[in-house]
Order: sequence, then structure tokens, then C-alpha cells
Amino acid sequence: MTKLKWGMIGGGDGSQIGPAHRLGAQADGLFEFAAGALDHRPVEGRAYAQRLGIAEDRAYGDWREMLEGERDRADRIDLVTVATPNSTHFEITKAFLEAGFNVLCEKPMTLTVEEGEEIVRVAEASGKICAVNYCYSAYPMVRQARAMVRNGEIGKVRLVVTNFSHGHHGDATDADNPRVRWRYDPAMAGVSGQFADCGIHALHMASFICDDAVDRLSADFASTIPSRELEDDAMVNFRMTGGTVGRLWTSSVAIGRQHGFDIQVFGETGGLRWASEQPNQLISTPVGGRTQIIEKGEAGLHEEARRLSRVAIAHPEGFPLAVANIYCDLADAIRGETRDGLPGAADGVRSMAAVHAAVDSARQHGAWVDARPPMFR
Ligand code: NAI
Repeated sequence: MTKLKWGMIGGGDGSQIGPAHRLGAQADGLFEFAAGALDHRPVEGRAYAQRLGIAEDRAYGDWREMLEGERDRADRIDLVTVATPNSTHFEITKAFLEAGFNVLCEKPMTLTVEEGEEIVRVAEASGKICAVNYCYSAYPMVRQARAMVRNGEIGKVRLVVTNFSHGHHGDATDADNPRVRWRYDPAMAGVSGQFADCGIHALHMASFICDDAVDRLSADFASTIPSRELEDDAMVNFRMTGGTVGRLWTSSVAIGRQHGFDIQVFGETGGLRWASEQPNQLISTPVGGRTQIIEKGEAGLHEEARRLSRVAIAHPEGFPLAVANIYCDLADAIRGETRDGLPGAADGVRSMAAVHAAVDSARQHGAWVDARPPMFR
């Protein structure tokens, strides 16, 4: 099978998420890294792209140049990843979809709900794929959890509890550090800080495993470091369409917690627990029974988890391979195979609606508000 051609915007030298995309896209030999506009500084971006092996004529200085350069090529890219800061996602994603490219956009997909709905419409009209990088949903044992819930193995889900709380912005003396400060500045980050950054991963995960959508929510936001305009800690209660009760805590000042993303799903006949720091294990307890550890790579997993377990049982698989699973699903989808677990533009706009609903609720001291985007009401 010939490799698909892949390009990336953002993810330049020293960026946080760029390496995970490069490892992920190329892990299975499905994509060839063919084009890039990797940096907000054109000269550095071109030079870095060439250092990574991209041909000189496809090492672009900015995304508009890349769009023009790729548009009419016979061997144009099959997929572009948008891994730039949040405020640029909308215009880049929209422009590439309109020009007929498949897109993988980093989260949050947009800054506003209106922009999110626009992306859903543009993706539909173009017939192209618009995926959003909720990569935690691609860990094999998360897919296993979703398959177990769908298969009725824990009964109807009553309650889901999830945290994405780390302590990496907990040092008040660091609050002025430019790499930290923008995250809590509305001019740069939008209406929400920590909830839009990490909370939406947890909310997406709850929807993904429970196979249900978030309907309404009530939020309490706090800026525990007073110089921060946006929240660095949030507690969000929510309800899903099927009646499941949801609790979500997200924080960036939880000193001592490292990655800090975990989820527990409690059904009528059992409970499941997964944590990003032990991603190869799913903890399962049937009602009245013993707790079991289900391991990635063991016999008898659901097909959704089995097909994404790459190396033998007990050999750890981590974050870049979860991202690689997103690229596997994308390669299949580009070749016309339906991939049910791939997060898309609808997930992206649901997250934006939840972010804006949470901001609204927090301003009204936790009032319950509709968390659905207007297009899905
Ligand atoms: P970063 O600040 O570390 O890197 C951003 C990169 O984009 C830099 O190389 C910069 O030069 C480049 N860039 C900026 N504007 C550009 C433009 N107009 N054209 C081309 N390149 C441009 O940011 P980081 O942390 O890598 O985040 C990027 C995106 O990835 C954000 O939207 C963030 O929310 C998301 N992210 C997602 C994660 C996930 O788990 N899915 C984890 C970390 C980040």
C-alpha cells in the first residue's frame, strides 16, 4: 500500500505537541511527512522542516503559502494536522477543509460555539474528514472500557467521575512566566483557562466511554492565584442525555499531581477505572465481586482494543502511540473505512458549547445551563 502524504502546521522546534504528532503519524508507516509550515517564524519553520526531511519546496514559511503550494499538486497532502495555538485553529482548519483537504485539528477546535458549528457545516459540505485530537480516547484500554459499556458489561451507567488535575502551574512565582501567563489571559486563551485546556479532555472522555452526550452542567470556577483572570481550578457537575450523573474536577494548581487524568464509570452491575499514568490497565469490579486488572495485549479483549494494542502484553505503550492510533483510524477513514471511535468536528463543537456553558454557569454562581451547541438541541 502506498503511504498517504501528511503535512503539519505548527508543532515547530521545542513545541509541546509537535513530537507526539510526528511520532504518531509515522509510527505505522501509514503516512509520509511531506509538507509543513511548522513555526510562526517563517525562516525557522522552513529550516526545521528541512531538518526533519521535508523537501525544500514543501518546507513552507506559513500556512497560507502551504495551502497555495499544496492545492494544485498532483501529489498533494492527504491530511494536514493543525497543531498551532488555539486562536488560529478555526481559520486554518476552515481554509484547508474548503480547499478539499482532510484535517486533524488540535483541541480546542475553535474558540467560539459559532465557529465550531461553522466547522461542522464546512466539513459536511466538503465531504472531507475533520478529526479533533482527543487522543486519550485512542488508548486501547479506553476503547476497551467503551466497548464494555456498550456491551452492557457494567449495566446502565449511573455515575461518571473524572479528574484532569495537575500541579504544573501551581507556583505563584511562576505566574508571570510567558509560557504560563497566556493561558490565563482572555486575550490569548479565550473565555476559559484550565477547563478549556484540560477539562474538555475529561468531558470528552466521559462522553466517549459512556457513549452519551453532555446535556447540561453547573460549574464553579476559581482563580486560586489572584493575578490570573481566567480559572486555574474548576468543578463541573453535569448530566448526560441518558440520565448519567457526571462529576469533573480540573486544576492546574494541584501540586504533587503529575498528569492527573483519570476516570471512573459506575454502572448498575459494575465499575471501571482508568488513569492516564497507568494507561495499559483497566480496573474492573463487578457488583459483589473481586476487582480485576485487564491488561492491554491480553487475550479476550474487545476487538476495538485488540486492534490498537501494538506491542506484546507487559511492554508499555504510551502517549505517542495513542496519537498513532488516531492516525491509524484516520488512514482507514481516508481510505473509505468507517472508524467509529475517531473524534470529529461534532465532538469539537460539543466541547466548545460545554466551555461556554461552564463560563456562563460559573458567572451565575453555578446555575444549571444547557451545555449543547444550538445545532444539536
Ligand atoms: P507550543 O506553544 O508549545 O507550540 C506551538 C507551535 O506552533 C510553535 O512551534 C509555534 O512556532 C507554532 N506556531 C504558532 N503559530 C503558528 C502559525 N500561525 N503558523 C505555523 N506555526 C505556528 O504549543 P503546544 O503546547 O504544542 O500546543 C499547540 C496546540 O496543541 C494547542 O492548541 C494545544 O491546546 C494543543 N495540545 C493538545 C494536546 C493533546 O493532548 N491533544 C497536548 C498539548 C497541546
